[in-house]
Amino acid sequence: MRPTIGVGVIGFGWMGQAHSRSYLRIPTLFPERTYDPRLVICADSVAARREEAVGSFGFPAATEDWRQVVAHPDVDVVVVAAPNMLHEQLCVAAADAGKHLFCEKPVGGTPEQTVRIAAAARRAGVVTGVGYNYRWVPLVLHARELIGAGRLGDITNYRGRFFSMYGSDPLGLLSWRFLQDQAGYGVSSDILSHTVDLAHLLVGPIASVVGTRETFIRQRPRAQPGEGSHYATGRPDDPVGEVTNEDYAGALVVFANGARGAFECSRSMVGPESQMAFEIYGTKGSIAWNLEQLNELQIYLADDDGGWPRGYTTVYGGDRYPFHGHFVPGDANSIGFEDVVTIEDFAFLTSVAAGEQHEPGMEAALDYVSFQDAWLRSCDSGAWESVTRLGHGGSR
Ligand SMILES: NC(=O)c1ccc[n+]([C@@H]2O[C@H](COP(=O)([O-])OP(=O)(O)OC[C@H]3O[C@@H](n4cnc5c(N)ncnc54)[C@H](O)[C@@H]3O)[C@@H](O)[C@H]2O)c1
Repeated sequence: MRPTIGVGVIGFGWMGQAHSRSYLRIPTLFPERTYDPRLVICADSVAARREEAVGSFGFPAATEDWRQVVAHPDVDVVVVAAPNMLHEQLCVAAADAGKHLFCEKPVGGTPEQTVRIAAAARRAGVVTGVGYNYRWVPLVLHARELIGAGRLGDITNYRGRFFSMYGSDPLGLLSWRFLQDQAGYGVSSDILSHTVDLAHLLVGPIASVVGTRETFIRQRPRAQPGEGSHYATGRPDDPVGEVTNEDYAGALVVFANGARGAFECSRSMVGPESQMAFEIYGTKGSIAWNLEQLNELQIYLADDDGGWPRGYTTVYGGDRYPFHGHFVPGDANSIGFEDVVTIEDFAFLTSVAAGEQHEPGMEAALDYVSFQDAWLRSCDSGAWESVTRLGHGGSR
């Protein structure tokens, strides 16, 4: 008999539901697991979502009051998938109650909040996980292995982008993501966090940054709480409200190892639909990956055979790469976004079961907000700014 890990979920929108589906199917996908996840209780402020949690997902209970999740004796792990500015209150309460904590990125709405959440988790000694799910894409893990084995030589430069169209329609609803008091920062928290996290994983820490930001669509139709998703649209005659955080974030960076990098993220451009992508260049080769082709990696290795003509090779995902075979056997049978979330959740609960700190956890969250803090300073000063480590052992 495996021990049970009781899970309580706060926020039952896109990601709360995605994680809940993951916990339900971990037993069917991971025979080597050392535990069995059990859904215990879910909190959401919208009644229809609570009904769905109980009626369709099999949560024994759902509540409007997230405190009941944190206080529930059968909950071992609290999963925070609510809007970012609620994260601090939820995460600190969960840690203080001694619950292990999985929080969606960016953890908090501001760097200061992230620092306080990380401090609470450290004080409580709980295992933490952070929703940097793209780390768990099998082909990204393979890219990391190739880089670690020196196949690209010395890394010289890195380009990361997250171009999403979720805010490209001016009639896109003014949901929480577009409001500083509910989301905290805009794309720098929402999607630049993923882009920089992958750069941290694949290249290493960033020493300095010069940044720029802009809000291109400044008014949007007002949304009702819990209405649709951030892809939902309103009507031209709906009352409008002001967008209060950034649509676009750009940065040039110098990594601590001397490599150079460029990042761009946008939610309002027209064309690229979900280009969470990177290109990484070294003295002996390069690799490119793009979420829009999650199951493909482009690889160029200069020492492959030395013959001409040469060019990038497309490598298809398959069961020879980490975790892929848990979902589908063979080569080029595709996996998708939620499969990656399931790998992420399996790995986090494995750390919880072992009582070991997880990676990525709060340290990875602090790595990102330390970068974000310097990026924000640079957006204001217009100058290059040094990245100073926030949090434990850092300057704040
Ligand atoms: N890792 C990823 O790929 C990824 C993708 C999307 C979102 N996210 C993150 O996940 C989190 C949630 O984003 P989402 O897209 O799922 O948002 P969403 O709007 O789809 O869902 C948020 C849910 O929280 C609920 N909620 C609001 N206030 C609440 C409260 N006081 N108590 C309980 N529930 C409350 C809302 O009713 C809604 O159902 C954010 O931190 C976001 O940055 C991560």
